[in-house]
Parts: sequence; C-alpha cells; structure tokens
Amino acid sequence: MNTLQTITAHGCTIPTIGLGTWTLRDQACAELVSAALTSGYRHLDTARMYDNEVAVGDGLRASKVARAQVFVTTKVWPDDIADGDLQRSAEASLKRLGLDHVDLLLIHWPNAKIPLQSSIKALCETKKRGLAKHIGVSNFTVALLDEAVALSSEPIVANQCEYHPHLDTSKVIAACRKHGVAFVSYTPLGRGAIGGVLDEPVVKTIAARVKRTPAQVTLRWHLQQGIVAIPRSTNKGRVAENLAVYDFELTAADMAALSKLTRADGRVVNLAIAPKWD
Ligand SMILES: NC(=O)c1ccc[n+]([C@@H]2O[C@H](COP(=O)([O-])OP(=O)(O)OC[C@H]3O[C@@H](n4cnc5c(N)ncnc54)[C@H](OP(=O)(O)O)[C@@H]3O)[C@@H](O)[C@H]2O)c1
Repeated sequence: MNTLQTITAHGCTIPTIGLGTWTLRDQACAELVSAALTSGYRHLDTARMYDNEVAVGDGLRASKVARAQVFVTTKVWPDDIADGDLQRSAEASLKRLGLDHVDLLLIHWPNAKIPLQSSIKALCETKKRGLAKHIGVSNFTVALLDEAVALSSEPIVANQCEYHPHLDTSKVIAACRKHGVAFVSYTPLGRGAIGGVLDEPVVKTIAARVKRTPAQVTLRWHLQQGIVAIPRSTNKGRVAENLAVYDFELTAADMAALSKLTRADGRVVNLAIAPKWD
C-alpha cells in the first residue's frame, strides 16, 4: 500500500488527514475537535477568519491528547499580512488557541496590495521567534509560490489550495512537487452534497466495489497522490468515517477515472480577493 499516514516536507511532518473546522463554532466546535482527536485525528486546521480558535484550543485540551502529538495549523487573513500586522495576528491567534506555538502558520490568501516580500519577511520572523514551527501559504498560484519560495529565508512547507475530482489543480501540484512543498487539499470533498462530487456515478460505482463511502473513496484518491486532505464535517460519525481511509486501495484505473471528473466550473471557493488561477 503506497499511502502514508504522514508526509514530510522540509522537515515538517504532516498527518495526511486533518480536521477542517470552517463553520464550526463554540461548544459544538470544541466537542467535535475533542471527538476527532479521541477517534485518532492528529491534525487540526483553523484560521483567524473562522472565528473558532478559542473553541479549537478548548477541544484540544478536552481531548487529553498530548499537545505534542497534534499538528495545529492556523492562518493569517490577507488584510493582516503586512510586516508587523502578520506577527500581531499570529500572537493573537496563539492567545485565542491557548498555545505557545502552532505547527504551521499560513498566509490565508495572497494580497495584491501588500508586497509579498514584506509578508514573507514577517512570516519568517514568526518562525524565528518560535510562534510557528513551520510556515506556508494558501491559495498561492504557481507564480506566487515561486516568488514566495525565492523570497523566503525559511522553508515554505505547504501550499493549501482547493482540490477535489471536479477541479484540475495539476499545475499548482506540480509546482509544489518542484519545490518540495506539501500540497494540502482544502474542500477535498468538493463540499459534499453542495458540489456534487460525492454523487458522481463514477465515485459511487467505485465506492460500491470497494465497500467504502463516496467520501472515503474521494479522500483515498487524494492520499494516493501524496496529498494531505482536511475534510470538514459537523457530524461525529462522518468525522470518524473520513479518517478510516488507510486500509483499502484504489487501482490505477480508479485513480484515472476519478481524475477525469474535472469540470471547467469545478471551483467551489472563488472569493473576490482570489488571484488569477492557473
Ligand atoms: N485555505 C482556504 O482558503 C480554505 C478555504 C476553504 C476551506 N478550507 C479548509 O478546508 C476545510 C474543508 O473544506 P470545506 O469545509 O470547504 O469542504 P469539504 O470538507 O470538501 O466538505 C464539507 C461538506 O462535506 C460534508 N461531508 C463531510 N464528510 C462527509 C462524508 N463522510 N459523507 C458525506 N458528506 C460529508 C459536510 O457535511 P456534514 O457537516 O453534514 O457532514 C460538509 O457539508 C475547511 O473546513 C477549512 O478548514 C480552507
């Protein structure tokens, strides 16, 4: 079986399934985070913008899983990525999380109005000060990733971007491989019922054959490409289901069939602040 439970990029070891927490809030978020960790998750994905860092930290502590065993990512919103603002945002995130460092700090989106050099310098400083063990980016195109890597005195270990069978992200994935950067897939299920990935007949047929759910097949497709995925669910059963993807395998034909589901309109997350996608 060629799927690893963790991948390592520039010395940063990342569990290949993480819990996405966007939309989760307050007590429900804390309970879900705690349940996820109890069921075996070791990777949590939050952001200042999700307004749930307090609950994510509470859930982590409630789980009784040792802090050192959990990979915590948070992100800095693009309004705050100028030198000085970025460090303050990181400090405020740590305060809300109740942690002295995160494992990975990401620039959430690029900001064309702020020179990348300033943002990368600030990001590097958070690592040097120990606020973040590792640093990375999110929603960076090939050109932006090339620029970030060239500007950074510290390794950029991850680029978190949208990816699922409806979206062709091959150029960014290739750029990540070239730089030894982990590709972390957000919206890995194409947002469940909303995006329609899980209802694709190809996905359902493979799922029936391997006796897994469409979500598990979709996540397995990510893992067999050496990609980290951070699915989100509000349901404890589905949270556990999304981690149970390490004990079956898709064939090369399954992988190819799933990769053929790309659509020109496949992108789910397209904010006004988005860069010009590759
Ligand atoms: N960096 C960025 O800019 C960015 C952007 C978007 C997202 N993210 C991160 O990526 C995470 C995941 O992305 P996402 O929340 O957009 O979408 P997603 O994980 O692709 O899909 C979430 C949807 O799928 C459903 N679902 C989850 N597990 C399922 C299963 N086993 N079977 C059927 N349906 C299932 C959920 O419904 P139920 O709740 O009903 O289970 C929810 O509606 C976010 O939470 C966030 O942490 C990052």
